[in-house]
Amino acid sequence: MTLVSKDILKAAEILSRDELVAIPTETVYGLAANIYSDSAIKKIFELKKRPFFNPLIVHIHSMEQVMELAVDFPEKAQLLAKAFWPGSLTLILKKQAAVPDLITAGSNTVGIRMPHHDLTLKLLKSLPFPVAAPSANPFTHISPTTAQHVKNYFDGALEMVLDGGDCKNGIESTIVGFENKEAVVYRLGSISIEDIRAVVGNVTLKNNKDKAPNAPGMLEKHYAPQTKTYLVENIASFIAQHPHQKIGLLLHIKESKELEVAKTIYLTETGDLKEAASKLYSAMHDLDKLDLDLIVAQRLPDTGLGKSINDRLERATK
Ligand code: TXA
Ligand code: MG
Repeated sequence: MTLVSKDILKAAEILSRDELVAIPTETVYGLAANIYSDSAIKKIFELKKRPFFNPLIVHIHSMEQVMELAVDFPEKAQLLAKAFWPGSLTLILKKQAAVPDLITAGSNTVGIRMPHHDLTLKLLKSLPFPVAAPSANPFTHISPTTAQHVKNYFDGALEMVLDGGDCKNGIESTIVGFENKEAVVYRLGSISIEDIRAVVGNVTLKNNKDKAPNAPGMLEKHYAPQTKTYLVENIASFIAQHPHQKIGLLLHIKESKELEVAKTIYLTETGDLKEAASKLYSAMHDLDKLDLDLIVAQRLPDTGLGKSINDRLERATK
């Protein structure tokens, strides 16, 4: 049985003997291990069934730790860190030799983030090492936004989930690197491109959906329910074309006509995209449990966080 508890001392003790603990963050739950323990880091890849070519994000609690991990903290990166840390921003920087290759998948860069969650920041402060933490889900599955989601995935195979409640933002951090001193977004996420641009000016999006992505984890199929899922423009006509199917709907605006389906979940009643992002994965987990034939999601407006949510829905429906 996996322990679900708020006990930071217990979490620290487990991490210190090279075992894994799932930790809450404001984006999604992460599966954490000591970055300097190869045996602990290997357990992350085994438990997630994640390929080794996919690098991990290092989680820190103070700005000073950046220079323990990176050889250079460029000005624009510092501006972004000051604006968004603690928060849902991952910076890709040139790594120090001491950062193990297992963390970076052999690349000369390292992903670094300071999460915005009191319990996890307290835990990180109590540890003599930073932790690596990918989302706490099996490879390609929906990310967890509650302690229960993590327990459902790994019960018995994981010692502890540090219970920090529901994740406030609900989708992963925005990943930003630098090419020729310009900011490049490699993964859309909880911080919108517009907000990044407001801090550093010019921003390029390289959120590739091909087979050789810039952030190696950005595979085409990801964040996917087990139930066949579709992202469609016209919900009513899709339903009309699929009679006799048990359908679950993921909507953000009410359709003009009440739709006859097994279950409908609204991501927001008010059109608030932040609210929609925070509910996205929970809604997908809930629909996936209902033994439906199909899940049908409605595309959001393609601005701000709508762009990030659409990115997740597109990958979930490959
Ligand atoms: O919000 C988040 O970022 C969550 C929480 C737990 O912090 N973590 C998360 O980790 O989403 P993960 O492993 O599920 O996704 C990390 C992404 C992957 O796509 C990986 O390829 C990319 O970050 N990444 C990590 N290090 C990188 C690096 N050095 N260069 C390029 N991409 C990197
Ligand atoms: Mg993930």
